[in-house]
Amino acid sequence: MSSIVYLNGEYVPRSEARISVMDRGFLFGDGIYEIIGVYNGRLFRSEQHLERLQRSLMAIKIEHQFRIEEYEQIIQELLEQNNITTENKYIYIQVTRGISTTRSHNFPKPSVKPSIFMMLDDLVRPSFAQLQKGFKAITREDSRWKDCFIKTISLLPNVLLSEEAIENDATETILIHNGYAIEGSNSNLFNVKNGVIITPPKSEHMLGGITRELIIELAQQNNLPIKENNITLNDLYSSDEIWVTSASRDIMPIVNLDDQIIANGQVGPMWQQMQTIFQGYKDAL
Ligand code: PDD
Repeated sequence: MSSIVYLNGEYVPRSEARISVMDRGFLFGDGIYEIIGVYNGRLFRSEQHLERLQRSLMAIKIEHQFRIEEYEQIIQELLEQNNITTENKYIYIQVTRGISTTRSHNFPKPSVKPSIFMMLDDLVRPSFAQLQKGFKAITREDSRWKDCFIKTISLLPNVLLSEEAIENDATETILIHNGYAIEGSNSNLFNVKNGVIITPPKSEHMLGGITRELIIELAQQNNLPIKENNITLNDLYSSDEIWVTSASRDIMPIVNLDDQIIANGQVGPMWQQMQTIFQGYKDAL
């Protein structure tokens, strides 16, 4: 475990980091977060993640605290203080509306300083053998709110939906909204049909994933057919391949959905190809 964390201007051991019970993140889940992968000690797509962090802050009306370069400086300092040189980790960044003197739904007036917390944690990756075997997922109705493009720390629906996957020996819960598969409880969604990679179009009902964006870019650069299209539950069941993607999962192949075998139950050739391209991109950084 990486033990030095950043909290409101200080670098302290994680076990000694303290925040007030009056922090609005604690009382209301009033804040946003980001997760940035660190591969071989290097940040992966940090600019895109930090830009999304700024958009999330704007969407919930928290005044920008730092410029992107300032976040990057803190992250570099964290990597140094934790002696991260070649490891795979992820950076967790959380910004809340700050600490108020009373509990009121309304924003504190005058406004208070946002609370900023950052830590490093281990990136737990599936083994090569696990990836080659594929994973199981389940589907559930999407019980979240309508502003899922904001990366809010109010994650209770995601937490409960994700736990249902675990209760069903699965790795992820794919969320269905108005009959369409939108994304996972903490990942984006792709399927493959007749040689075409498909992912649901960006909307306020999903988080525009940075990994999703990169996969679209890499597919286009490598002439793999890809399009953004709505995916119904029936489309999913009759897919040739299903993948879920995120900064912490990379590209995970799903071979069993709601206890139904997808295609022949093996990880597909398009996944193999995209996985190799994705890994090559990371190794070249
Ligand atoms: N989750 N959709 C949701 C609801 C997510 O929570 C995530 C990521 C993604 C994928 O986004 P990205 O590719 O930028 O990681 C999509 C992070 C990893 C988490 O909450 O742990």
